[in-house]
Amino acid sequence: MRVIQGDITDMNTDAIVNAANSGLLGGGGVDGAIHRRAGPALAEYCRPLAPCPTGQARITPGFGLAVRWIIHTVGPVWRGGRHDEAALLAACYTNCLHLCAPHGIRSIAFPAISTGAYGFPKRQAAEIALQACRSFLARFGTELEVLFVCFDRTQHDIYAALLD
Ligand code: APR
Repeated sequence: MRVIQGDITDMNTDAIVNAANSGLLGGGGVDGAIHRRAGPALAEYCRPLAPCPTGQARITPGFGLAVRWIIHTVGPVWRGGRHDEAALLAACYTNCLHLCAPHGIRSIAFPAISTGAYGFPKRQAAEIALQACRSFLARFGTELEVLFVCFDRTQHDIYAALLD
């Protein structure tokens, strides 16, 4: 597991993860950036895969992106922490990772799901992301490379400190 600062649409891992909404047709933030660079064929492909419930994941080709696969997951909206937000966020990471082996994915890049428009506290979200991925790797995925791509320095430093 590694953290880097950057734009997830520049990654050339086997797969990148999109922080989508249940409609899967694009939006702002990382979702908007991915749909813009993948092109309109992505939304067309996504249409029959919707709705995607919170915590679950759907896989599509990368279309105009350098990656072979995009895994779309829907993070929880932060509503104070008593609405199962932590478990749903962990499920996002775990469900994305479960799609890797069946699709031959050996490297995957995650954004900080739910920490933008959906308002999840950044440090808590990073702890959940790392814990969910660490448990998954311990159980199944010794070969899998997991990258956390942080758009801003603050988020990067939170991950870096936790990974230390
Ligand atoms: N690469 C990496 N990270 C990015 C990028 C990018 N190009 N753009 C934004 N981010 C970061 C943000 O800084 C934030 O930390 O991704 C994190 C998640 O933010 P959002 O994209 O707002 O995702 P989320 O909080 O899960 O909200 C999802 O936003 O745009 C809509 O359609 C999307 O409705 C859904 C909601």
